[in-house]
Amino acid sequence: MSVHLAAGPGDIAPIVLLPGDPLRAQFVAERFLDGAVCHNRVRNALGYTGHHHGRRISVQATGMGMPSFSIYAHELIESYAARVLIRIGTCGALQPELAVRDIVLAMAASTDSAMNHHRFAGMDFAPAADFDLLRRAHELATGCGLAVRVGGVLTSDAFYPDRDDWWRIWARHGVLAAEMETAALYTLASRSGVRALSILTVSDHIVTGAQSSAEDRQTGFGAMVELALALAASLPEPQSGS
Ligand code: HPA
Repeated sequence: MSVHLAAGPGDIAPIVLLPGDPLRAQFVAERFLDGAVCHNRVRNALGYTGHHHGRRISVQATGMGMPSFSIYAHELIESYAARVLIRIGTCGALQPELAVRDIVLAMAASTDSAMNHHRFAGMDFAPAADFDLLRRAHELATGCGLAVRVGGVLTSDAFYPDRDDWWRIWARHGVLAAEMETAALYTLASRSGVRALSILTVSDHIVTGAQSSAEDRQTGFGAMVELALALAASLPEPQSGS
């Protein structure tokens, strides 16, 4: 048990999928995992562990934003010996060639958050994906014909920033999309020597205002989960420390 997770020792698999939304964690467990057991209900941050094609996998909701995400990532790594963390989330596109339902593999995460400035005493850390996870996910996605892009994302503290043109500087520097968690994931993973990747579905277009329909969201989320599970299945069994 940790402060925010009620799971017992060994209840959580070394590979953990991380959606923000608890109902998406439940959906993943019910739809994709065999014999899923709920390991956490604290704060309704639902978490489940089950099997997919024989591989033991957990899915744990993280809530939204770097502070909430960091609590769950920290406890999964430090208290439950998680070794591979795969975020499955949504993002808002910043580049004209991206469309809703496209998949973004986050190679690196810029951020407007002060969290890393505190952590690194005002200096800039470059949060980056695990290259092997990124390479495998890209190969799997292109192999099954998914519309996938690899590049930088912006991890923002604000879903509703004050300034209308806040996105321009990031778009101008080639950042593909905005979301709210990946910089924390890559920073904590680097710190602990665990492997991490963010797989994101475009749910809206920040520049054009395009929005995905409810059906788009469901289908897009399903495709992303299948990619994340195929990635998990492709890995050698990670050595759990617990
Ligand atoms: N901004 C931040 N996070 C997001 C967005 C967005 O527009 N869309 C989905 N996640």
